[in-house]
Amino acid sequence: MNIFTRQRCVSWLRLILAGGLASALVTAQAAPRFAGSAACSTCHAAQSSAQSSSGHAHALARASGHRLRSVFPLAASEARRAPKFRFRFDGLTVRIDDGTEVLAIPMEWAFGSGHQAVTFVSRGNERLYIEHYLTYYPLLGKFGPTPGQGNIDPQNLAEAAGLLYPASDPQTGIAGCFECHSTGGLQALEPAENGVRCEACHGPGAAHAVSGGKAAIVNPKRFTAVDLNRFCGRCHRPPASDPAKVDWSFAWNVRHQPVYLSQSACFVKSQGKLSCLTCHSPHEPLETRAESYDARCKACHDRSQRTSSCAQRDCAGCHMPRVSPEPPLRFTNHWIGVYPAVGSKLKPERR
Ligand code: HEC
Ligand code: HEC
Ligand code: HEC
Ligand code: HEC
Ligand code: HEC
Ligand code: HEC
Ligand code: HEC
Repeated sequence: MNIFTRQRCVSWLRLILAGGLASALVTAQAAPRFAGSAACSTCHAAQSSAQSSSGHAHALARASGHRLRSVFPLAASEARRAPKFRFRFDGLTVRIDDGTEVLAIPMEWAFGSGHQAVTFVSRGNERLYIEHYLTYYPLLGKFGPTPGQGNIDPQNLAEAAGLLYPASDPQTGIAGCFECHSTGGLQALEPAENGVRCEACHGPGAAHAVSGGKAAIVNPKRFTAVDLNRFCGRCHRPPASDPAKVDWSFAWNVRHQPVYLSQSACFVKSQGKLSCLTCHSPHEPLETRAESYDARCKACHDRSQRTSSCAQRDCAGCHMPRVSPEPPLRFTNHWIGVYPAVGSKLKPERR
């Protein structure tokens, strides 16, 4: 039974109800099916070609088909852990040896487009998956410990190889990784489609596609800013129900953009005019030109409001500082505010 598809449909229904989108509800009630992004591309060529080159589209791949497969420095890499365990690659098989025995694990799945990191996951058996110890960091051009695994002290080969995950435990299962990094639901942990594609955001679209666009499909353009925080927050984490309970001093939390954006004065005081879509185009790869963001800020903040520091370009560089919970990973603090020039960039100085 494909419980994951069902769960997804239920959450869609809730979201749509919350947004009051009666038209989309019709699609949801009629046991919705997914069409796959190839079907959408026949009629929506512009969105499809842009989206295909985004980080979303490449958030999950077979290791052998990853866009960076040809630059993984497999032949040149050798690593040690703890210091007894030695790692070497034999093509896409990692061989871990402790001087007596060798454990060989094929690298099966690759999580992450590679803008920041590519983490490998393999199936052990129907109940257990392993998240490999070595992650590829494109900015460094080399492999290093997977985030969160660096300070574990392994006692044997199996522990050295990486972290074991139960297959589908609702809290800690590897199914969660696949859910956020794929589209169309899972069958025995095999995603219908790798990466975050059309129907991860637009919901099941088979009826819409078959009807030539006549049957309704979710268009998040009509969502409010508050709903978009929750919508994108399904994977990027939704705003906290009680902000007092968020540990604002824990740098890893900065990667949860909706949690932080929802605290900003810009968000709270702009009567719903500021959302994820103000600054991000949902089908395009991440914009990295500072000028593009400056233009968004200036749409609401004219010169008269600002001090002399603000005459410089790259508003976000000062007001949405980068935070690095574990180098080389870095995330943008979406709690827009005034930060001290030196010191912690986790929380604005004042509100
Ligand atoms: C056979 C052509 C066709 C296919 C295939 C198709 N669409 Fe559409 N789509 C249309 C047309 C035509 C419209 C405009 C309908 C309108 O103006 O009401 C549309 C509108 C949309 C809208 C805007 C809806 C709104 O209410 O504003 C979205 C979102 C959308 N399509 C997404 C998708 C996705 C995702 C897929 C793949 C699952 C897909 N479409 C497949 C023809 C198609
Ligand atoms: C189904 C889960 C999911 C949903 C829904 C989702 N995202 Fe993402 N998003 C991801 C994942 C996973 C990545 C990491 C992609 C990668 O590996 O680089 C990501 C990356 C991004 C990036 C960086 C992209 C890049 O090219 O580096 C932006 C910006 C982003 N998401 C914005 C949004 C916005 C805005 C929404 C809501 C309209 C949204 N996301 C909804 C899962 C999701
Ligand atoms: C709740 C949804 C969710 C789950 C569960 C999830 N991810 Fe992600 N993942 C994301 C999002 C969203 C991003 C983009 C983060 C960003 O750039 O802000 C991401 C990014 C990544 C990246 C790119 C590097 C980085 O840290 O940004 C890797 C690698 C990754 N995830 C691996 C995994 C693995 C392995 C698991 C399971 C152990 C997992 N993810 C579980 C949503 C999720
Ligand atoms: C990360 C979430 C996300 C993904 C993935 C995504 N979309 Fe969208 N899409 C949106 C949002 C948000 C809007 C409304 C804002 C906009 O039009 O930019 C939208 C709007 C649309 C529209 C309506 C445009 C209009 O003028 O109203 C179409 C058509 C569409 N998307 C097609 C697609 C297709 C085809 C894919 C896959 C190739 C896709 N989308 C993938 C979030 C997404
Ligand atoms: C949709 C409109 C809007 C956008 C876009 C916007 N802001 Fe704001 N911002 C506001 C409003 C409204 C306030 C609250 C002003 C007040 O308190 O009177 C605010 C407050 C601020 C503050 C003061 C923060 C505080 O805690 O008091 C700073 C700094 C700021 N914005 C910077 C930026 C920067 C930088 C950008 C672009 C990255 C940006 N804003 C984008 C509307 C916006
Ligand atoms: C006021 C503008 C603004 C808004 C609103 C905004 N972002 Fe961003 N976002 C940025 C900037 C600036 C970056 C950094 C771009 C770069 O790396 O050059 C960024 C980067 C990101 C990234 C890449 C990882 C990171 O943290 O650097 C993700 C994912 C993301 N945003 C998601 C979201 C989501 C989800 C929302 C809505 C909750 C949102 N953003 C709202 C300005 C914005
Ligand atoms: C070099 C860092 C820097 C840059 C770049 C910068 N700012 Fe600022 N900004 C500051 C500092 C510092 C303050 C606080 C000044 C004070 O408290 O007197 C501030 C304050 C503000 C405020 C709040 C003013 C108030 O009345 O409380 C807004 C709004 C703002 N900046 C917007 C912008 C915008 C928009 C841009 C880009 C065009 C920008 N800033 C670029 C450093 C910067």
